[in-house]
Amino acid sequence: MRVAVDSDVFAIQIDACHIDAIPITNHAENEWSEMPDPRVNTDLPNLGVVVSVRGSVVDVRFNENLPPIHSMLHADEGRIIVEVLAQRDLQHVRAIALTPTQGLARGMTVTDTGGPLKALVGKGILSRMFDVFGNAIDRQPAPTDVQWRSVHRAPPTLVKRSTHSEIFETGIKVIDVLLPLERGGKAGLFGGAGVGKTVLLTEMIHNMVGHQEGVSIFCGIGERCREGEELYREMKAAGVLPNMVMIFGQMNEPPGSRFRVGHAALTMAEYFRDDEHRDVLLLIDNIFRFIQAGSEVSGLMGRMPSRLGYQPTMGTELSGLEERIANTDTGAITSIQAVYVPADDFTDPAAVHTFSHLSASIVLSRKRASEGLYPAIDPLQSSSKMATPGIVGERHYALAQEIRRTLAQYAQLKDIIAMLGLGRVIN
Ligand SMILES: Nc1ncnc2c1ncn2[C@@H]1O[C@H](COP(=O)(O)OP(=O)(O)O)[C@@H](O)[C@H]1O
Ligand SMILES: [Mg+2]
Repeated sequence: MRVAVDSDVFAIQIDACHIDAIPITNHAENEWSEMPDPRVNTDLPNLGVVVSVRGSVVDVRFNENLPPIHSMLHADEGRIIVEVLAQRDLQHVRAIALTPTQGLARGMTVTDTGGPLKALVGKGILSRMFDVFGNAIDRQPAPTDVQWRSVHRAPPTLVKRSTHSEIFETGIKVIDVLLPLERGGKAGLFGGAGVGKTVLLTEMIHNMVGHQEGVSIFCGIGERCREGEELYREMKAAGVLPNMVMIFGQMNEPPGSRFRVGHAALTMAEYFRDDEHRDVLLLIDNIFRFIQAGSEVSGLMGRMPSRLGYQPTMGTELSGLEERIANTDTGAITSIQAVYVPADDFTDPAAVHTFSHLSASIVLSRKRASEGLYPAIDPLQSSSKMATPGIVGERHYALAQEIRRTLAQYAQLKDIIAMLGLGRVIN
Protein backbone atom coordinates (compact mmCIF):
# COMPACT_ATOMS: atom_id res chain seq x y z
CA MET A 1 0.00 0.00 0.00
CA ARG A 2 2.78 2.38 0.98
CA VAL A 3 4.58 1.75 -2.27
CA ALA A 4 1.45 2.53 -4.25
CA VAL A 5 0.85 5.77 -2.38
CA ASP A 6 4.44 6.92 -2.83
CA SER A 7 4.67 6.13 -6.52
CA ASP A 8 4.47 8.92 -9.05
CA VAL A 9 2.01 7.00 -11.18
CA PHE A 10 -0.51 6.95 -8.40
CA ALA A 11 -0.18 10.66 -7.78
CA ILE A 12 -0.50 11.43 -11.47
CA GLN A 13 -3.63 9.33 -11.69
CA ILE A 14 -5.15 11.19 -8.78
CA ASP A 15 -4.15 14.47 -10.39
CA ALA A 16 -5.74 13.49 -13.67
CA CYS A 17 -9.03 12.36 -12.24
CA HIS A 18 -9.36 15.49 -10.12
CA ILE A 19 -8.83 17.83 -13.05
CA ASP A 20 -12.22 16.89 -14.45
CA ALA A 21 -13.95 16.70 -11.13
CA ILE A 22 -12.85 19.97 -9.54
CA PRO A 23 -11.82 22.68 -12.00
CA ILE A 24 -10.00 25.17 -9.78
CA THR A 25 -7.55 26.87 -12.10
CA ASN A 26 -7.24 28.14 -15.64
CA HIS A 27 -10.52 29.83 -16.25
CA ALA A 28 -9.66 31.90 -19.32
CA GLU A 29 -11.00 35.40 -18.96
CA ASN A 30 -12.95 35.26 -22.19
CA GLU A 31 -14.87 32.24 -20.90
CA TRP A 32 -16.76 34.61 -18.67
CA SER A 33 -17.88 36.87 -21.45
CA GLU A 34 -18.70 34.02 -23.83
CA MET A 35 -20.78 32.13 -21.32
CA PRO A 36 -24.50 32.89 -21.68
CA ASP A 37 -25.82 34.55 -18.56
CA PRO A 38 -27.85 31.78 -16.91
CA ARG A 39 -29.90 34.21 -14.86
CA VAL A 40 -33.60 34.38 -15.66
CA ASN A 41 -34.04 38.03 -14.75
CA THR A 42 -30.75 39.92 -14.90
CA ASP A 43 -32.17 43.18 -13.51
CA LEU A 44 -32.60 41.81 -10.01
CA PRO A 45 -29.56 40.91 -7.88
CA ASN A 46 -29.03 37.16 -7.59
CA LEU A 47 -29.54 36.44 -3.89
CA GLY A 48 -28.74 33.30 -1.92
CA VAL A 49 -29.00 32.20 1.68
CA VAL A 50 -26.21 30.87 3.91
CA VAL A 51 -26.92 27.24 4.79
CA SER A 52 -23.81 26.43 6.79
CA VAL A 53 -20.55 28.02 7.90
CA ARG A 54 -17.63 25.80 8.85
CA GLY A 55 -14.62 28.02 9.46
CA SER A 56 -13.68 29.27 6.00
CA VAL A 57 -16.11 26.98 4.16
CA VAL A 58 -19.52 28.43 3.44
CA ASP A 59 -22.46 26.62 1.83
CA VAL A 60 -25.01 28.85 0.12
CA ARG A 61 -28.42 28.00 -1.33
CA PHE A 62 -29.65 29.73 -4.48
CA ASN A 63 -33.22 28.80 -5.35
CA GLU A 64 -32.58 29.62 -9.00
CA ASN A 65 -29.57 30.94 -10.96
CA LEU A 66 -26.80 28.86 -9.40
CA PRO A 67 -23.58 30.95 -9.71
CA PRO A 68 -20.78 29.38 -11.80
CA ILE A 69 -17.50 28.21 -10.27
CA HIS A 70 -15.11 31.09 -9.36
CA SER A 71 -18.00 33.55 -8.83
CA MET A 72 -17.49 35.95 -5.97
CA LEU A 73 -20.30 36.24 -3.43
CA HIS A 74 -20.70 39.10 -0.97
CA ALA A 75 -22.32 38.91 2.46
CA ASP A 76 -22.76 41.36 5.32
CA GLU A 77 -22.72 44.40 2.96
CA GLY A 78 -19.54 43.25 1.22
CA ARG A 79 -17.53 42.80 4.41
CA ILE A 80 -17.40 39.04 3.89
CA ILE A 81 -16.31 37.81 0.46
CA VAL A 82 -16.40 34.16 -0.58
CA GLU A 83 -15.49 32.40 -3.81
CA VAL A 84 -17.53 29.52 -5.26
CA LEU A 85 -15.35 26.43 -5.63
CA ALA A 86 -17.95 23.71 -6.17
CA GLN A 87 -21.58 23.30 -7.13
CA ARG A 88 -22.97 20.69 -4.75
CA ASP A 89 -26.32 20.17 -6.47
CA LEU A 90 -28.85 22.24 -8.42
CA GLN A 91 -29.38 24.65 -5.55
CA HIS A 92 -26.22 24.63 -3.42
CA VAL A 93 -22.72 25.93 -3.90
CA ARG A 94 -19.72 25.44 -1.63
CA ALA A 95 -17.53 28.49 -1.32
CA ILE A 96 -14.28 29.38 0.40
CA ALA A 97 -13.89 32.65 2.27
CA LEU A 98 -11.29 35.22 1.21
CA THR A 99 -11.97 37.29 4.30
CA PRO A 100 -12.49 36.22 7.93
CA THR A 101 -16.00 34.79 8.38
CA GLN A 102 -16.72 36.15 11.87
CA GLY A 103 -20.31 37.31 12.07
CA LEU A 104 -21.53 35.16 9.19
CA ALA A 105 -24.56 33.09 10.25
CA ARG A 106 -27.07 30.69 8.78
CA GLY A 107 -29.94 32.47 7.08
CA MET A 108 -27.93 35.55 6.10
CA THR A 109 -28.40 36.87 2.57
CA VAL A 110 -25.59 36.52 0.06
CA THR A 111 -25.32 38.51 -3.17
CA ASP A 112 -23.80 37.01 -6.31
CA THR A 113 -21.51 39.62 -7.89
CA GLY A 114 -21.87 37.84 -11.23
CA GLY A 115 -18.14 37.69 -11.86
CA PRO A 116 -14.85 36.23 -10.68
CA LEU A 117 -12.20 37.80 -8.44
CA LYS A 118 -10.74 40.81 -10.22
CA ALA A 119 -7.35 42.48 -9.98
CA LEU A 120 -6.56 46.15 -10.53
CA VAL A 121 -4.51 46.91 -13.62
CA GLY A 122 -3.39 50.15 -15.22
CA LYS A 123 -0.75 52.86 -14.89
CA GLY A 124 -2.34 54.06 -11.67
CA ILE A 125 -1.23 51.01 -9.68
CA LEU A 126 2.48 51.86 -9.95
CA SER A 127 4.15 52.80 -6.66
CA ARG A 128 1.19 51.45 -4.71
CA MET A 129 0.59 48.57 -2.29
CA PHE A 130 -2.54 46.37 -2.43
CA ASP A 131 -4.28 43.40 -0.89
CA VAL A 132 -5.79 40.52 -2.88
CA PHE A 133 -9.02 42.47 -3.57
CA GLY A 134 -7.16 45.45 -5.02
CA ASN A 135 -7.76 47.64 -1.96
CA ALA A 136 -4.89 50.05 -1.36
CA ILE A 137 -3.14 49.22 1.94
CA ASP A 138 -0.66 52.10 1.94
CA ARG A 139 -3.14 54.52 3.54
CA GLN A 140 -3.49 56.57 0.41
CA PRO A 141 -6.60 57.19 -1.66
CA ALA A 142 -7.70 54.51 -4.14
CA PRO A 143 -5.81 54.77 -7.45
CA THR A 144 -7.40 56.40 -10.47
CA ASP A 145 -6.74 55.52 -14.13
CA VAL A 146 -7.26 51.79 -13.52
CA GLN A 147 -9.40 48.92 -14.79
CA TRP A 148 -10.49 45.65 -13.22
CA ARG A 149 -9.56 42.33 -14.79
CA SER A 150 -10.42 38.73 -13.94
CA VAL A 151 -7.54 36.95 -12.21
CA HIS A 152 -8.36 33.69 -14.02
CA ARG A 153 -6.54 33.77 -17.33
CA ALA A 154 -4.99 31.18 -19.58
CA PRO A 155 -1.21 31.14 -20.17
CA PRO A 156 -0.01 32.48 -23.56
CA THR A 157 -0.21 29.91 -26.34
CA LEU A 158 2.98 28.24 -27.55
CA VAL A 159 3.09 30.21 -30.83
CA LYS A 160 3.07 33.50 -28.92
CA ARG A 161 6.02 32.54 -26.75
CA SER A 162 9.48 33.81 -27.44
CA THR A 163 12.27 31.26 -27.87
CA HIS A 164 15.12 33.70 -27.35
CA SER A 165 17.59 33.01 -24.51
CA GLU A 166 19.28 35.94 -22.83
CA ILE A 167 21.13 36.41 -19.54
CA PHE A 168 19.65 38.53 -16.76
CA GLU A 169 22.39 40.11 -14.66
CA THR A 170 21.90 40.37 -10.91
CA GLY A 171 25.22 41.94 -9.91
CA ILE A 172 25.81 39.15 -7.39
CA LYS A 173 29.01 37.44 -8.50
CA VAL A 174 28.35 33.87 -7.44
CA ILE A 175 25.01 33.95 -9.27
CA ASP A 176 26.18 35.68 -12.45
CA VAL A 177 29.23 33.44 -12.87
CA LEU A 178 27.97 30.03 -11.79
CA LEU A 179 24.19 30.22 -12.03
CA PRO A 180 23.22 32.89 -14.57
CA LEU A 181 19.53 33.75 -14.56
CA GLU A 182 17.45 33.89 -17.70
CA ARG A 183 15.72 37.05 -18.88
CA GLY A 184 12.08 36.04 -18.96
CA GLY A 185 12.87 32.88 -17.02
CA LYS A 186 11.93 31.62 -13.61
CA ALA A 187 14.51 31.32 -10.87
CA GLY A 188 13.96 29.79 -7.47
CA LEU A 189 15.73 30.48 -4.17
CA PHE A 190 15.39 27.26 -2.22
CA GLY A 191 16.06 26.91 1.47
CA GLY A 192 14.68 26.07 4.88
CA ALA A 193 13.60 28.64 7.44
CA GLY A 194 16.01 31.49 8.14
CA VAL A 195 18.76 30.67 5.62
CA GLY A 196 18.46 34.05 3.88
CA LYS A 197 15.92 33.70 1.07
CA THR A 198 14.17 36.97 1.82
CA VAL A 199 17.43 38.86 2.34
CA LEU A 200 18.82 37.58 -0.99
CA LEU A 201 15.58 38.44 -2.77
CA THR A 202 15.66 41.96 -1.33
CA GLU A 203 19.32 42.23 -2.37
CA MET A 204 18.34 41.33 -5.93
CA ILE A 205 15.61 43.97 -5.94
CA HIS A 206 18.15 46.58 -4.81
CA ASN A 207 20.59 45.53 -7.53
CA MET A 208 18.19 45.18 -10.41
CA VAL A 209 15.24 47.49 -10.01
CA GLY A 210 17.44 50.57 -10.28
CA HIS A 211 18.82 49.88 -13.75
CA GLN A 212 15.93 47.85 -15.06
CA GLU A 213 13.66 49.90 -17.30
CA GLY A 214 10.62 47.72 -16.77
CA VAL A 215 8.20 47.35 -13.94
CA SER A 216 8.73 45.31 -10.78
CA ILE A 217 5.94 43.55 -8.98
CA PHE A 218 6.47 42.15 -5.52
CA CYS A 219 4.00 39.54 -4.35
CA GLY A 220 4.09 38.46 -0.71
CA ILE A 221 2.34 35.17 -0.09
CA GLY A 222 1.90 33.84 3.44
CA GLU A 223 5.07 35.33 4.93
CA ARG A 224 5.51 37.70 7.87
CA CYS A 225 3.43 40.90 7.69
CA ARG A 226 6.36 42.89 9.05
CA GLU A 227 8.45 42.00 5.98
CA GLY A 228 5.98 43.72 3.67
CA GLU A 229 6.03 46.90 5.68
CA GLU A 230 9.85 46.89 5.88
CA LEU A 231 10.17 46.31 2.15
CA TYR A 232 7.79 49.17 1.39
CA ARG A 233 9.84 51.57 3.49
CA GLU A 234 13.16 50.36 2.03
CA MET A 235 11.92 50.70 -1.54
CA LYS A 236 10.61 54.18 -0.83
CA ALA A 237 13.95 55.21 0.67
CA ALA A 238 15.84 53.74 -2.31
CA GLY A 239 13.63 55.71 -4.68
CA VAL A 240 12.55 52.72 -6.78
CA LEU A 241 8.90 52.81 -5.75
CA PRO A 242 7.66 54.70 -8.86
CA ASN A 243 8.20 51.60 -11.00
CA MET A 244 7.06 49.08 -8.45
CA VAL A 245 3.78 47.50 -7.36
CA MET A 246 3.39 45.46 -4.19
CA ILE A 247 0.63 43.03 -3.42
CA PHE A 248 0.32 41.10 -0.19
CA GLY A 249 -1.61 38.15 1.17
CA GLN A 250 0.50 37.42 4.22
CA MET A 251 0.17 34.82 6.95
CA ASN A 252 -2.54 36.76 8.79
CA GLU A 253 -4.91 36.28 5.83
CA PRO A 254 -7.29 33.32 5.39
CA PRO A 255 -6.15 30.49 3.07
CA GLY A 256 -8.49 31.54 0.25
CA SER A 257 -6.86 34.95 0.09
CA ARG A 258 -3.29 33.56 0.17
CA PHE A 259 -4.26 31.13 -2.56
CA ARG A 260 -5.50 33.88 -4.90
CA VAL A 261 -2.97 36.64 -4.29
CA GLY A 262 -0.47 35.03 -6.70
CA HIS A 263 -3.07 35.03 -9.48
CA ALA A 264 -3.82 38.69 -8.80
CA ALA A 265 -0.10 39.59 -9.01
CA LEU A 266 0.24 37.69 -12.29
CA THR A 267 -2.75 39.49 -13.74
CA MET A 268 -1.00 42.79 -13.03
CA ALA A 269 2.24 41.46 -14.57
CA GLU A 270 0.38 40.29 -17.67
CA TYR A 271 -1.17 43.73 -18.08
CA PHE A 272 2.27 45.40 -18.21
CA ARG A 273 3.60 42.71 -20.57
CA ASP A 274 0.65 42.48 -22.97
CA ASP A 275 -0.88 45.97 -22.91
CA GLU A 276 2.11 48.21 -22.23
CA HIS A 277 4.76 45.92 -23.80
CA ARG A 278 7.14 46.41 -20.92
CA ASP A 279 9.44 43.93 -19.24
CA VAL A 280 8.28 42.83 -15.84
CA LEU A 281 10.28 41.56 -12.89
CA LEU A 282 7.98 39.47 -10.71
CA LEU A 283 9.26 38.64 -7.24
CA ILE A 284 7.36 36.10 -5.18
CA ASP A 285 8.04 35.41 -1.52
CA ASN A 286 7.06 32.63 -0.99
CA ILE A 287 5.74 30.21 -3.61
CA PHE A 288 5.64 27.34 -1.10
CA ARG A 289 2.97 29.27 0.81
CA PHE A 290 0.86 29.24 -2.35
CA ILE A 291 1.03 25.43 -2.41
CA GLN A 292 0.34 25.38 1.32
CA ALA A 293 -2.71 27.63 0.95
CA GLY A 294 -3.97 25.33 -1.83
CA SER A 295 -3.53 22.41 0.51
CA GLU A 296 -5.51 24.19 3.24
CA VAL A 297 -8.29 25.04 0.78
CA SER A 298 -8.34 21.43 -0.44
CA GLY A 299 -8.59 20.12 3.12
CA LEU A 300 -11.35 22.59 4.00
CA MET A 301 -13.27 21.48 0.92
CA GLY A 302 -13.10 17.93 2.23
CA ARG A 303 -10.87 16.43 -0.46
CA MET A 304 -8.70 13.41 0.36
CA PRO A 305 -5.04 14.36 0.71
CA SER A 306 -2.43 12.81 -1.56
CA ARG A 307 1.31 12.29 -1.05
CA LEU A 308 2.62 13.52 2.32
CA GLY A 309 -0.71 15.17 3.01
CA TYR A 310 -0.53 17.60 0.08
CA GLN A 311 -3.60 18.25 -2.02
CA PRO A 312 -4.19 15.86 -4.96
CA THR A 313 -4.41 18.89 -7.30
CA MET A 314 -1.03 20.41 -6.32
CA GLY A 315 0.63 19.85 -9.71
CA THR A 316 -2.29 21.35 -11.60
CA GLU A 317 -2.56 24.38 -9.32
CA LEU A 318 1.15 25.14 -9.43
CA SER A 319 1.43 24.81 -13.20
CA GLY A 320 -1.71 26.95 -13.59
CA LEU A 321 0.26 29.74 -11.94
CA GLU A 322 3.79 29.05 -13.22
CA GLU A 323 2.81 28.57 -16.87
CA ARG A 324 1.42 32.09 -16.97
CA ILE A 325 4.91 33.44 -16.21
CA ALA A 326 6.12 33.42 -19.80
CA ASN A 327 7.88 35.46 -22.46
CA THR A 328 6.10 36.75 -25.48
CA ASP A 329 7.53 38.66 -28.42
CA THR A 330 6.39 41.96 -26.95
CA GLY A 331 7.59 41.60 -23.38
CA ALA A 332 8.95 39.25 -20.79
CA ILE A 333 8.05 38.36 -17.24
CA THR A 334 11.21 37.45 -15.36
CA SER A 335 10.37 35.85 -12.09
CA ILE A 336 12.42 35.19 -8.98
CA GLN A 337 10.67 33.09 -6.39
CA ALA A 338 11.65 32.18 -2.87
CA VAL A 339 10.78 28.56 -2.14
CA TYR A 340 10.60 27.46 1.48
CA VAL A 341 11.79 23.88 1.82
CA PRO A 342 10.01 22.17 4.74
CA ALA A 343 12.47 20.71 7.26
CA ASP A 344 15.34 21.26 4.74
CA ASP A 345 14.05 18.18 2.87
CA PHE A 346 14.62 18.74 -0.85
CA THR A 347 12.63 15.61 -1.74
CA ASP A 348 9.44 17.19 -0.36
CA PRO A 349 6.77 17.07 -3.10
CA ALA A 350 6.26 20.85 -2.95
CA ALA A 351 9.97 21.51 -3.61
CA VAL A 352 10.16 18.80 -6.29
CA HIS A 353 7.16 20.16 -8.19
CA THR A 354 8.53 23.71 -8.02
CA PHE A 355 12.01 22.62 -9.25
CA SER A 356 10.50 21.32 -12.48
CA HIS A 357 9.15 24.75 -13.49
CA LEU A 358 12.36 26.73 -13.02
CA SER A 359 15.21 27.55 -15.36
CA ALA A 360 17.60 28.24 -12.48
CA SER A 361 17.55 26.85 -8.94
CA ILE A 362 19.65 28.57 -6.31
CA VAL A 363 19.97 26.37 -3.24
CA LEU A 364 20.76 27.99 0.08
CA SER A 365 22.38 25.63 2.54
CA ARG A 366 21.75 25.51 6.25
CA LYS A 367 25.38 24.60 6.88
CA ARG A 368 26.80 27.68 5.20
CA ALA A 369 24.22 29.92 6.87
CA SER A 370 25.10 28.50 10.29
CA GLU A 371 28.76 29.33 9.60
CA GLY A 372 27.74 32.90 8.74
CA LEU A 373 28.79 32.55 5.09
CA TYR A 374 26.17 34.78 3.46
CA PRO A 375 24.67 34.55 0.89
CA ALA A 376 24.58 30.87 1.84
CA ILE A 377 24.42 29.66 -1.77
CA ASP A 378 25.58 26.08 -2.29
CA PRO A 379 27.05 26.22 -5.83
CA LEU A 380 27.32 22.44 -6.13
CA GLN A 381 23.63 21.82 -5.46
CA SER A 382 22.40 24.82 -7.44
CA SER A 383 21.97 24.71 -11.20
CA SER A 384 20.99 26.86 -14.13
CA LYS A 385 19.90 25.90 -17.62
CA MET A 386 21.68 29.01 -18.93
CA ALA A 387 25.14 27.81 -17.87
CA THR A 388 26.02 26.36 -21.28
CA PRO A 389 28.78 27.50 -23.68
CA GLY A 390 26.22 28.40 -26.35
CA ILE A 391 24.65 31.07 -24.13
CA VAL A 392 27.32 32.39 -21.78
CA GLY A 393 30.28 31.83 -24.13
CA GLU A 394 33.18 29.36 -24.08
CA ARG A 395 35.44 31.34 -21.74
CA HIS A 396 32.78 31.98 -19.11
CA TYR A 397 31.68 28.33 -19.25
CA ALA A 398 35.22 26.97 -18.86
CA LEU A 399 35.84 29.31 -15.92
CA ALA A 400 32.61 28.27 -14.19
CA GLN A 401 33.45 24.60 -14.68
CA GLU A 402 36.90 25.16 -13.20
CA ILE A 403 35.38 26.86 -10.13
CA ARG A 404 32.94 23.99 -9.67
CA ARG A 405 35.76 21.46 -9.96
CA THR A 406 37.79 23.27 -7.30
CA LEU A 407 34.81 23.47 -4.97
CA ALA A 408 33.98 19.80 -5.52
CA GLN A 409 37.57 18.85 -4.76
CA TYR A 410 37.47 20.95 -1.59
CA ALA A 411 34.30 19.17 -0.46
CA GLN A 412 35.88 15.80 -1.25
CA LEU A 413 39.02 16.60 0.74
CA LYS A 414 36.89 17.74 3.65
CA ASP A 415 35.13 14.36 3.66
CA ILE A 416 38.43 12.47 3.56
CA ILE A 417 39.82 14.56 6.43
CA ALA A 418 36.65 13.95 8.42
CA MET A 419 37.14 10.21 7.99
CA LEU A 420 40.92 9.87 8.41
CA GLY A 421 41.90 12.90 10.47
CA LEU A 422 44.14 15.76 9.30
CA GLY A 423 47.39 14.15 10.56
CA ARG A 424 47.09 11.05 8.39
CA VAL A 425 46.17 13.05 5.31
CA ILE A 426 49.30 15.24 5.68
CA ASN A 427 51.49 12.19 6.21
N1 LIG B 1 23.29 38.09 3.06
C1 LIG B 1 23.14 38.15 4.39
N2 LIG B 1 23.96 38.92 5.14
C2 LIG B 1 23.82 38.99 6.47
N3 LIG B 1 22.87 38.33 7.15
C3 LIG B 1 22.03 37.55 6.49
C4 LIG B 1 22.10 37.41 5.06
N4 LIG B 1 21.13 36.57 4.66
C5 LIG B 1 20.49 36.20 5.77
N5 LIG B 1 20.99 36.78 6.87
C6 LIG B 1 20.52 36.58 8.27
O1 LIG B 1 19.58 35.51 8.32
C7 LIG B 1 18.33 35.95 8.82
C8 LIG B 1 17.18 35.24 8.13
O2 LIG B 1 17.13 35.59 6.77
P1 LIG B 1 15.77 35.55 5.93
O3 LIG B 1 16.10 36.03 4.57
O4 LIG B 1 14.69 36.27 6.65
O5 LIG B 1 15.46 33.99 5.92
P2 LIG B 1 14.31 33.22 5.13
O6 LIG B 1 13.57 34.19 4.30
O7 LIG B 1 15.06 32.20 4.33
O8 LIG B 1 13.48 32.58 6.18
C9 LIG B 1 18.34 37.44 8.61
O9 LIG B 1 17.55 38.11 9.54
C10 LIG B 1 19.81 37.80 8.77
O10 LIG B 1 20.14 37.96 10.12
MG1 LIG C 1 11.62 34.76 4.22
